[in-house]
Amino acid sequence: MVKTRTCIFISGKGSNLNNLIKKSRDYNFPININLVISNNPKAEGIKHAKKNSIPIFIVNTKKRNFENKILKILKEKRINFICLAGFMKIISRNFLLNFKKKIINVHPSLLPKFKGLNTFSRIIKNKEKKTGCTVHYVNEKLDSGNIIIQKFFYIKKNDNEKILKSKTQYLEYRAFPEAIIKVFRKN
Ligand code: GAR
Repeated sequence: MVKTRTCIFISGKGSNLNNLIKKSRDYNFPININLVISNNPKAEGIKHAKKNSIPIFIVNTKKRNFENKILKILKEKRINFICLAGFMKIISRNFLLNFKKKIINVHPSLLPKFKGLNTFSRIIKNKEKKTGCTVHYVNEKLDSGNIIIQKFFYIKKNDNEKILKSKTQYLEYRAFPEAIIKVFRKN
């Protein structure tokens, strides 16, 4: 099967990146990971790219033209699809126009609830009964693009932020690959 050349954007641990790298080895999985971009030179996730000989590009998002630099390398590497996996930076409208309907993101809540940061503390504070993760298309508004897949679990009395995060990430490792398969089935 011809796989779509994909770039994963990260900022931190990169456990979703690692999971997607593993999935991408399946013959039938629609994407290949040809580039990893990190806005954090110390991101733990970079090691997964290195271990798998995937090119890494570190971008300094404090520089004004950083998106042009990203666009240039994406072009060089002939990237056609982007997955944001814990990328903690908002992407501009202009950038999105270059990859219309081709950028997806994973978020650790049941959107439209709890957009933005500090999701787990807000979920606990709000006494939610259930939570989960969402994979969605990226548009100009924060965590607001069309939803591709959601998975949820019921919150237990003793679930603290750490437990919620680990339960949510466990669901993300299933939701993200499933969402990618769904996106490419539609095309
Ligand atoms: C993931 O849980 C993802 O949902 C979250 O960052 C984590 C990255 O984990 N993303 C956001 O909060 C975006 N708003 P990872 O680096 O281990 O894949």
